[in-house]
Amino acid sequence: SNQDLDKNERLLKICELLDKNITYYNWVGFYFRNGEKEELLLGPYVGAPTDHTVIPFGKGICGQVAVSNENFVVPDVAAQDNYIACSITVKAEIVVPIFVNGENIGQIDIDSNTPDPFTELDERFLEFVCAQVATIL
Ligand code: SME
Repeated sequence: SNQDLDKNERLLKICELLDKNITYYNWVGFYFRNGEKEELLLGPYVGAPTDHTVIPFGKGICGQVAVSNENFVVPDVAAQDNYIACSITVKAEIVVPIFVNGENIGQIDIDSNTPDPFTELDERFLEFVCAQVATIL
């Protein structure tokens, strides 16, 4: 629908803004729960194309956040088990859930080519971004 198009354009703009302005954000994208299914679908993103357009709950960092409802910061992806590699250039990852009416409906996922770049400031900032995103969904 037109509304979905508008929504996806807005989400893509957010990805572009984050990717452009924060040097250590090198892949920025959204995953959303696929209806009542226990899987995530890739939404708008900026960065290298990924094969992982569908991620089952529990799988990888993203799938774990779908279940835990908590931020997941990975300072070194090589040291992480249950991690799904998308690109060999990626060194670190942060995933922050998006809540609508208290329900975890998706997440923002950011990969970095810089080792251990994410601080609590990134977490607070991305929580704010996710809260804003929740209002346009
Ligand atoms: N690394 C993620 C998969 C998504 S890609 O980063 C785009 C994970 O382990 O869930």
